[in-house]
Amino acid sequence: MSARITLHKGDITTDAVDAIVNAANNSLLGGGGVDGAIHRAAGPELLAECQRLGGCDTGDAKITKGYRLPASHVIHTVGPIYQDGNHGEPELLASAYRRSIEVAAENGCARVAFPAISAGIYGYPLDDAARIALGAVAAALADHPEVVEARFWLFNDQTYKAFEKALSELQSNGS
Ligand code: AR6
Repeated sequence: MSARITLHKGDITTDAVDAIVNAANNSLLGGGGVDGAIHRAAGPELLAECQRLGGCDTGDAKITKGYRLPASHVIHTVGPIYQDGNHGEPELLASAYRRSIEVAAENGCARVAFPAISAGIYGYPLDDAARIALGAVAAALADHPEVVEARFWLFNDQTYKAFEKALSELQSNGS
């Protein structure tokens, strides 16, 4: 499954995929980090649609149109705020990725782009965040062959390197 996962350095808002995934918060009403960048690039129509969604639980995902983005859709998911790793954070982070792929599959999105959910403002330790992200996405892709590619956009060198290491570990485990 890891052959369908690709790593990219830079800004997710530039990718003309079927759906980009937003690392949002429970309100779905915008914020900083990648959420702020996505709302700026998509324009005010995105916030207007998000206001009608009634928020989103941590670990769940909801879809909107992409408006002024090159991507057709935005899948808004909410990762956990990292406390100490003993408050369900690994399961919630894996669920955010799995639900995003499920929502992509339900809406005919064959190519999906992800940021490193929870690995910024929400403070998830990078190596753990990368390992959980790739494991969850590989498993969800196996269950959803209609989603043909998951493209990870990593915003800085440190994040890219953590994902590169976790992907090579996943591949050497035969996934
Ligand atoms: N493209 C790709 N990755 C990006 C971009 C971008 N344009 N901008 C930042 N990143 P974060 P979280 C990276 O903080 O930790 C918001 O306020 C960033 O370097 O965006 O899930 C929400 O509203 C990091 O590696 O998301 C929530 O309140 C990764 O994206 C909260 O932040 C995720 O960092 C969510 O925090």
